[in-house]
Amino acid sequence: MPTKITAITNQKGGVGKTTVCAALLSCLHQRGARVLGVDLDPQGSLGFSLGLDIEHCATVYDIFRGAAQPEEVILQTDTCDILPSNILLSAAELEFNKPGREFLLKAALSKIQDQYDYIVIDTPPALNILTVNAYVASDSLIIPMAPEVLSLLGVSQIKETIESVRNYYNSRLQVLGILLNRFNARLNLSREMLELAQQIAAQLQTKVFQAKIRSSVSAAEAPAHGVSIMDYAPRSKPAMDFEALCQEILGESSSEEVR
Ligand SMILES: Nc1ncnc2c1ncn2[C@@H]1O[C@H](COP(=O)(O)OP(=O)(O)OP(=O)(O)O)[C@@H](O)[C@H]1O
Ligand SMILES: [Mg+2]
Repeated sequence: MPTKITAITNQKGGVGKTTVCAALLSCLHQRGARVLGVDLDPQGSLGFSLGLDIEHCATVYDIFRGAAQPEEVILQTDTCDILPSNILLSAAELEFNKPGREFLLKAALSKIQDQYDYIVIDTPPALNILTVNAYVASDSLIIPMAPEVLSLLGVSQIKETIESVRNYYNSRLQVLGILLNRFNARLNLSREMLELAQQIAAQLQTKVFQAKIRSSVSAAEAPAHGVSIMDYAPRSKPAMDFEALCQEILGESSSEEVR
């Protein structure tokens, strides 16, 4: 990655944020990098989908309320280290109302980030204080979109949030790109969708990634097996596409180009 801390974000639900997060963590781990995944979604899907028992562990919430240190909350999986979350974090909006509330995650990560090459943050389907914490702590954002919910509606809200964070808290925040997930190049609609995604990218002053993630039932099955798609079905279309995405982000030349 050109940057160290990246948040996967889109206020729309079900576009593939958690899937992308788990796959990227896995791709980076396979390259020998030290990686940390941070789950900022009270649904707890990132930790759950990597096989953790998120109901009975300390979480990001305990760090934010000052009851635990980050290193006490980190759990290890076969893929990476995880700062897990669960439903208790949904109290954040009401509970964390003191000045500085936007910096809770940044402060926590500053204590442990030297131990990692990359940190990837999963965010909730909302633009709330948790999302803002992710943007404040990050160097960059990746915005996954799914064709079914692809629309210009909602772009202005995410744009406003990114701009506010840049103006007030984190001027270096950049958008690495928009990632089309569940992409089916054979659909007649796909060209229109790509054009729409490019319009959205232009509004956010970013690009649409060359790599597009195709659909496969394996992507939906992987979470129940407690591993990312990269380990569950490494030869599946989405796994190959995520590998291409990782190469694109890291600026590596793909094996096809080399041949
Ligand atoms: N490329 C894909 N092919 C098939 N299924 C996919 C693909 N990507 C994601 N899915 C499935 O779609 C559903 C939503 O994906 P995911 O949970 O990653 O989205 P999300 O944006 O994190 O959702 P939320 O907003 O609720 O956090 C999941 O069941 C997931 O397994
Ligand atoms: Mg999710």
